[in-house]
Amino acid sequence: MTSLDVRLTKILESRAKRQILRSLTPTQPTGQPVVDFSSNDYLSLARSPVLRTKVLAALKALPSPYGPPSSRLLDGNSSHHLALEAQLAAFFCAETGLLFNSGFDANVGAWTVLPDEEDWIVYDELIHASVHDGMRAARVEKGKRRSFKHNDVEDLQRVLKDILRADSGVKTGERSVWVGVETLYSMDGDLSPLKEIVELVESMLPKGNGHMVVDEAHSTGLYGNQGRGVVCALGLANRITVRVHTFGKAMACSGAVVLCSPLIRSYLINYARPLIYSTAMPHMNVIAIKTAFDMLEEGHGDAVAAHVHYLSTLLLQLLSAFLSPTSSPVSLPPTLALTTAPSPAATTAALTPNASPSLQPMLLTSPIIPLITASPRPLSRFLGEKGFLVRPITYPTVPKGQERVRVCLHAGNTEDEVRRLSEVVSEWVRDEGKREAAEAREKELRAKL
Ligand SMILES: Cc1ncc(COP(=O)(O)O)c(C=O)c1O
Repeated sequence: MTSLDVRLTKILESRAKRQILRSLTPTQPTGQPVVDFSSNDYLSLARSPVLRTKVLAALKALPSPYGPPSSRLLDGNSSHHLALEAQLAAFFCAETGLLFNSGFDANVGAWTVLPDEEDWIVYDELIHASVHDGMRAARVEKGKRRSFKHNDVEDLQRVLKDILRADSGVKTGERSVWVGVETLYSMDGDLSPLKEIVELVESMLPKGNGHMVVDEAHSTGLYGNQGRGVVCALGLANRITVRVHTFGKAMACSGAVVLCSPLIRSYLINYARPLIYSTAMPHMNVIAIKTAFDMLEEGHGDAVAAHVHYLSTLLLQLLSAFLSPTSSPVSLPPTLALTTAPSPAATTAALTPNASPSLQPMLLTSPIIPLITASPRPLSRFLGEKGFLVRPITYPTVPKGQERVRVCLHAGNTEDEVRRLSEVVSEWVRDEGKREAAEAREKELRAKL
């Protein structure tokens, strides 16, 4: 063994001992058909025969599905990339768009170069790893990167007040504060209070030097008219400096677009290293993304998204009958408070343009429902044995004590599948509760002896 082997083995063995060793497991370990309650294919577009047919037809019509294998800065920039950027900018009510090969690249690319050395960065404590990597690589020193408590507008206010006290250049507008949030958080399945955050940032930084950077990875395709996302649904498009929409979730492809001003786009083209020093997205991916967005623009997505929102409320309603934020051995996060389940028709109405304000709460339903449990692996295994694919999410992806099984709902799921899933969770809770009680009795007896 070389010294490298020794070092890596030791680290991985330590992870294995702490039961946090990551590995690549097949999606369907048993080879049995399973109901997908795990992937981020929220609109079930990855399984859509309509999308498949359209993509294959569009690819057939291309002279080459590959595109020049080169950076866009050299020979890789084609009319297909530019047309998709224009289509996405128009769809998302943005001035311009710039494609990246992944959401990870988009966040790293933008966060690394946009904040100036003297600027400040403020971010939600649950922001995605890619934003962390971008922020760390930025020129902003560590002491000027501040987190605020998850979705806590008051705490954000406290952090901004601290910054204003510490740096007069922020008050005069000379220096910027970059504020990073997601719209729908992937681990807790809760939505950001985005409107309140934008209003707070604007009121505390009235010189226009508070810049919102919003990651819509999980809300793309699911919220707003035709799936334009939360920013568009809330009418905030022109108050956000940078938006990131990714294509690896509801859009069933991969890649991302950064929506911004022409000036920022030009700056990113000059400085964002994941764009400059990487091969351009191949045409087959550009075409697949375009076709998926064509389908949204044709209105294919609204009813489908409405079904996901409906299933999500239904599952929450069923689970809430026997789980609560304090129940054991499985609990629901308190943030997923239950509202009454809307009908599919009501949900569709809520997603249409100019929906009545009374329908806006519908925006609050989430396709991600975490089941908080100290035994994520056994629960996930039990559900797997019953034919449901759900994944355990453990430390360090989530904090210790916050381990969970994450349920993701999809347009392709049926009401019956959701009801069966709830029944199986209830079965596990009953059995696990009995086992825990027996264990406690045995412990008590042993203590008495
Ligand atoms: C919030 C968020 N942002 C960015 C990304 C990265 O996107 P991609 O998978 O396209 O690299 C993810 C992926 O999990 C995500 O959840």
